[in-house]
Amino acid sequence: MKKKTKSKEFLVMGMLAMPMLLPGMAGAIDKVDKELYPFAPSLVNWEKSKAEFTPPETCAECHPQQFEEWTGSMHALAFKDPVYQGELNKAVKAVGHDIARQCEGCHSPVGVVTGQVKGPGLTGLNSIALNGVSCDICHSVKSHTGWQTPYHQPENGSFVMSPGKETADGVVLTKYGPYKPGEDCGEGFHECVEQPLHKTTELCANCHQVHHYESHTPLESTYREWKDGPYSVKNIACQDCHMVDYDTFVRSADEFKKPERGEFRHYFNGANFLLYYLLEQAAKKGGDEALAANAHNKFEMAVNRLKAAAEVEVLPIYRDNKLAELKVRVHNKRAGHNLPTSLTNIRQIWLEMTVKDQSGKVIMTTGTVGKDGELPAEARLFNSDGMGEAFHFQVDPWEVISFSRHETIPPKGYKDVYYGISAPQASGPLSVEVKLRYRQAEQKIAHALLAAVPSDIDLAATYGLTSMPDLPVVDMVEKTVSVPPTK
Ligand code: HEC
Ligand code: HEC
Ligand code: HEC
Ligand code: HEC
Ligand code: HEC
Repeated sequence: MKKKTKSKEFLVMGMLAMPMLLPGMAGAIDKVDKELYPFAPSLVNWEKSKAEFTPPETCAECHPQQFEEWTGSMHALAFKDPVYQGELNKAVKAVGHDIARQCEGCHSPVGVVTGQVKGPGLTGLNSIALNGVSCDICHSVKSHTGWQTPYHQPENGSFVMSPGKETADGVVLTKYGPYKPGEDCGEGFHECVEQPLHKTTELCANCHQVHHYESHTPLESTYREWKDGPYSVKNIACQDCHMVDYDTFVRSADEFKKPERGEFRHYFNGANFLLYYLLEQAAKKGGDEALAANAHNKFEMAVNRLKAAAEVEVLPIYRDNKLAELKVRVHNKRAGHNLPTSLTNIRQIWLEMTVKDQSGKVIMTTGTVGKDGELPAEARLFNSDGMGEAFHFQVDPWEVISFSRHETIPPKGYKDVYYGISAPQASGPLSVEVKLRYRQAEQKIAHALLAAVPSDIDLAATYGLTSMPDLPVVDMVEKTVSVPPTK
């Protein structure tokens, strides 16, 4: 009898504790409901009707400025990107075609819902599938279903596209935009519907929050990093930094002041200078000077955004009045999310430092790229290490299920790195040259990806790439400070 009461008590206590335990429990990640998400593992939805999607060239006839700005952007390149195509090819070989749908849900959403895109490669695709994230993706977004995704937030393509509707008078195209439409909005080509979502980060979050296709654990968390940071509190959205000119972005970041309506631009410019560089080479080879100039402009914008993102301080530490350590503090000054964000286990941001004595003799170096393009093991990187099922180091998004190390720098936050140093007793100050450097990936990974591009992308003919060059590096910060060896 006694025993029974006890177990009953236990049960009651257990039940009381349940609601508190649930969110943290291992099995708490909801499964994707296939009824709600017919394109799973992508969470994209399409309200199907006779209304068709419109290619960007058609929108360009009445919106030439937006078209020019979007052309050559990472969104225009999202599907054609040879780096993406290489990785997609590897993914399909490793886990089969199902996974391609997840990738396409963000890299070419219309391609996946209309069934145009069936995997890697560009052959035979129409403009709207090829053009990745084009006008009619974002401006057909009617709503999102973030509340019913595994993490109850926008993720893995959880937006609903509805390019138009059938009426008694025939098909009407509907374009969703951020503003209250004026009279004659759409000039008979489309009707306009005000959609407040377009002014918010949640529009972007649908694609900028990437989760594992099966375990659903977060892999790229730009949205969550933003949401947990000061820019979300101050109501500065992705658009306020990435859909504006350089000066306006700096103002958004420094003063938390929202841009005015006329200040928005469709650049979607971030950090990927490498892709703009490749596009410029391809445009020059193809004789398209206008596109080459456009790509060059976007290349410079990305480099400038990277150079504006961070700040570095050198703070010497003395023991017994002698220099013992150099503390280097790296600030994330203007990125609205962690630095770097998204593919944090692929992107590389690191410190290179050279310390010289008064005679110019080098007494310490760290983080110098080797002849093979690789970084030395002691280099201090602000990135992450992904782990697979067996808790081994992994890089591919279908393998990575968690992270063993996350050294990215939160928005408006900083990270400190310490270097032990034994300074010679000589009198004069030391010269400390420090650089914060950025590149898209380590050399080995870039090699592997470009080797995997589908056979209908000819890297030599299109990009002039006959061998793999050393990946270019951008110096986000360069500075030299003088440090006395004694206090
Ligand atoms: C990644 C999503 C996205 C894509 C792709 C996109 N837009 Fe937009 N668009 C937005 C957002 C967000 C705004 C609100 C910011 C603004 O006012 O410009 C906007 C605003 C607009 C406006 C209203 C601008 C104004 O001030 O009146 C027009 C027109 C427009 N977009 C057309 C286009 C065209 C044409 C394309 C393709 C060349 C395109 N968009 C591609 C997200 C997108
Ligand atoms: C939820 C949306 C989403 C899904 C799903 C997704 N991606 Fe992406 N992908 C992105 C975004 C956003 C970026 C840009 C991140 C950045 O540049 O920092 C990106 C970037 C990439 C890049 C880097 C491209 C470059 O030029 O450096 C590769 C490669 C890539 N994705 C491959 C894939 C593959 C393969 C899959 C499927 C296994 C996939 N992605 C699924 C949204 C997604
Ligand atoms: C025949 C001309 C024409 C075509 C083609 C056209 N539009 Fe428009 N659109 C207009 C006009 C005119 C306006 C109102 C003035 C403005 O905002 O530029 C407008 C407004 C918009 C707005 C702003 C809505 C708001 O109030 O926030 C968006 C977004 C938009 N169009 C998207 C598109 C997209 C996407 C395409 C291609 C699928 C497209 N348009 C094709 C003429 C056109
Ligand atoms: C339909 C999915 C989708 C939506 C919606 C979307 N993006 Fe993207 N975005 C992508 C993908 C995919 C890439 C990467 C393409 C690649 O690397 O090949 C990307 C790339 C970018 C980049 C370039 C990153 C770099 O490394 O330079 C920026 C900036 C960006 N997006 C901002 C935005 C903003 C701001 C919004 C909201 C207004 C938005 N995106 C909405 C899919 C999307
Ligand atoms: C306060 C300004 C600001 C805001 C807000 C902001 N970003 Fe950024 N973003 C930056 C800067 C600066 C960089 C370049 C440094 C870097 O790579 O992080 C960047 C880089 C990126 C990159 C490329 C990352 C890489 O390292 O390859 C992507 C993708 C991106 N942002 C998407 C977004 C999205 C999505 C949002 C909204 C959730 C957003 N950003 C909000 C300033 C901002």
